[in-house]
Amino acid sequence: MTPQVTQLGKTFAARVTGIDLRQVPDAATHAWIEQQLARWGVLSFGPQRIDDSQQEAVIELFGPPFATNFGEIATGHPHFYDITTVDESGAPIVADSPRGLTLLANAQWHTDGSQLQPPTRVSILHARVLPPTPPPTEYANMCAAWDALPPAMQREAEQLSVVHSIAWSREQIGFRDISPESLKLRPPVVHPLVRTNPITGRKSLYLASHASHPVGWPVKEGRAYIHALVAHATQPEFVYSHAWCADELVMWDDRWTMHRATPYDGVQPRKLRWCGAVELEPV
Ligand SMILES: [Fe+2]
Repeated sequence: MTPQVTQLGKTFAARVTGIDLRQVPDAATHAWIEQQLARWGVLSFGPQRIDDSQQEAVIELFGPPFATNFGEIATGHPHFYDITTVDESGAPIVADSPRGLTLLANAQWHTDGSQLQPPTRVSILHARVLPPTPPPTEYANMCAAWDALPPAMQREAEQLSVVHSIAWSREQIGFRDISPESLKLRPPVVHPLVRTNPITGRKSLYLASHASHPVGWPVKEGRAYIHALVAHATQPEFVYSHAWCADELVMWDDRWTMHRATPYDGVQPRKLRWCGAVELEPV
């Protein structure tokens, strides 16, 4: 079956049909997915009855798997992280625990892995358990946000590098108890504020909840600047809200999209299994 792509959002996001991820995509299919990812940013592959090894095989096409076996995100698997109502033993995730607060942090607009260097390049979520009415996941088109900036702001932004810090993103939700060991593994890193997609040549804002302030700026002033840019980039015209279906696999390009979880009360079980591939080079 020939893969087909259908637009989902106003400016980005698409549904892919005709690819069965139980088999590892061959080189031509992988190249096709890369092109679609560069064009659409967010791709739903619809229901995919895949297991862990098949999910891992897909992400490995895009780069080295993101290591999840450290700090408060450790789940016992080296490459998976679960957006889940219960932990590996079946016990409910306590909201006011490091893991619960990490889940809460997903409600901030963010880009996976920007707190690291190199950062995450591609992310995958696979719906393993969904409640009857799953909360959507929202995505922001950071190319469109860049395009809409006034030229003077573009010129300024292109000159800037930004400090990204896990301590800052967690502080914003009142989580100030990250262990010293965990912080040592994730010291602040610096990324350019503007990135150019190597496939499309399009520029985009590279922002995240981890983004604190431009290098060389006073911290308070810099945080206000980043806050204003995030507010600009997440206006409704740049946002796509994705409604989940059973067994669905969604892949997105962390180079030019941000995303966030929407509120969920956790009463009905839910588990989305995440994995990511990191950039080969620092950005
Ligand atoms: Fe995320």
